[in-house]
Amino acid sequence: TTPILLDVDTGVDDALALLFAAAHPELELLGVSCVAGNASLDRVVDNTLRVLALAGAHHVPVAAGARRPLIEPARDAGHVHGADGLGGVQLPPAQRTAEPEGAVEFLRRRILEHPEPVALVALAPQTNLALLLRTHPEVADNLERIVFMGGSASVGNATALAEFNVWHDPEAAAIVLDAGVPLYMYGLDVFNRVGVPEATAAALAASATLRETVVGRLLDHRIASPDGEHPYLGWIGDAGAVCSLVDPDALRVERLPVRVELVGYGRGQTVVDRREIPGEDLMHGLGAQWAAVDVALDVDAARLVRLFL
Ligand code: BDR
Ligand code: CA
Repeated sequence: TTPILLDVDTGVDDALALLFAAAHPELELLGVSCVAGNASLDRVVDNTLRVLALAGAHHVPVAAGARRPLIEPARDAGHVHGADGLGGVQLPPAQRTAEPEGAVEFLRRRILEHPEPVALVALAPQTNLALLLRTHPEVADNLERIVFMGGSASVGNATALAEFNVWHDPEAAAIVLDAGVPLYMYGLDVFNRVGVPEATAAALAASATLRETVVGRLLDHRIASPDGEHPYLGWIGDAGAVCSLVDPDALRVERLPVRVELVGYGRGQTVVDRREIPGEDLMHGLGAQWAAVDVALDVDAARLVRLFL
């Protein structure tokens, strides 16, 4: 089994990722840390505890982390995930609260105390990870790698260029790129392509078990668009990044130089250098701003969906 820690901003698709991680026998979910992103921190913690209860993962500890990004104010994504962060899908309250310890200490302890290297999987703005790596850089020695849902080598979503998780806290993402830990980027290039057919979501939503009903309803969550249309997307979203740990061969990955833009309209964009012949800026090795990242560029979407289901 692969020991993993999840950092989340639950979130419709973070919920799907938590359900998958708690259920898959090849993953050992050591703990979950929460950060402000899709919703406020308090909302994220409550949603995360409720989702883990639904998953029967009462033993998986949850810690609360940063209430806002390093520099920016918190800017939630209520227009995408609904005011409650779960698209109005109501779950029974959890019968427990988060750990007394904050996310940074919690992650440090969980990483260093584990006998084998741990995969840290970030499905949210990377504020907690940046604070962890700056406070306790020694955790890098026991991280197998950091897998992050974030960024893009093509289109953005928060802006035309920037993906939400990186855009929400660009400085944090830049710190994580600079941490000297092996990195795997599950960005919008693949994220946007992994959807469940509408009929499958409807069948799940009509199921007799609560967990399946919730999965069906989360997949059926529709983003309100300005013209009032609510297209079905069926995205498994963040869950795809967790699926990639179980079936890495379902993705085509290239190791490429990546940096985060911090100024101007491009703020929060991940620049992925796909030149075949390096330019002046790369000729003499990677400069301080560039990190070598395993970037997922293509995915067998049907295969990942089968795994998720
Ligand atoms: C990412 O932003 C959030 O809205 C989703 O949960 C996902 O992590 C997609 O850009
Ligand atoms: Ca998320």
